[in-house]
Amino acid sequence: MGKQLRLDKLLADTGRWSRKDAKLLLKQGRVQVDGSVEKSGDRKVDPELAAVAVDGEVLRWTEYRYLMLNKPGGVLTATEDRRQKTVLDLLPPEYRDLFPVGRLDKDTEGLLLLTDDGALAHHLLSPRHHVDKRYLANIDGEVDAADVQAFRDGIVLGDGTVCLSAELESMGQGQCLVTLREGKFHQVKRMLASRGKPVVGLKRLSMGPLQLDETLKPGEFRPLTAEEQFELKKL
Ligand code: URA
Repeated sequence: MGKQLRLDKLLADTGRWSRKDAKLLLKQGRVQVDGSVEKSGDRKVDPELAAVAVDGEVLRWTEYRYLMLNKPGGVLTATEDRRQKTVLDLLPPEYRDLFPVGRLDKDTEGLLLLTDDGALAHHLLSPRHHVDKRYLANIDGEVDAADVQAFRDGIVLGDGTVCLSAELESMGQGQCLVTLREGKFHQVKRMLASRGKPVVGLKRLSMGPLQLDETLKPGEFRPLTAEEQFELKKL
């Protein structure tokens, strides 16, 4: 016999509904297992064998995988490199066909999403969608009100590149929070450097609704929860 999983969990694992919404669908009689209405989330089913449908549409759940990595410094955001260690080298073999969504510099730490869902990755990275990315920067200096205003107005980089309006918040003690709606090459470093406040350390804290799980040590990863997948796909 194959694995037996709870029906409410299976529904939530598709990422299309939160666990709470999945329970509601069940209660409303909109879920069918092998053609019969099933109202109990406790019902165990084998996802490989059972045909589970919502409003008549049969579901697939093993389609894509999503991991959150707390990227450590010193590894490349790439799938392979002949000389240097990449983020994929941090994962066990069963995850080797995932790819990183966007890029963090070699020395940047923090939230990196890895998936094999190309459509979602494309959506998150598309400049049209302006998904917020938040970073904690350690800088040489302190952010002041003029810097905050300049970020809000849109920084113009040394090569003439114009940045979208961004949020900057001082945390004191040489730290600040930067929220960007785009992802140009070395953007946080270049923006702060343009204000004479060079970055000495950078960590990504969030991307859209996805927050770095602070219980993950650098180099550790975990699958996204059903809720996290749901929030991402809602974008
Ligand atoms: N901005 C940078 O400068 N580096 C990163 O890794 C991410 C954003």
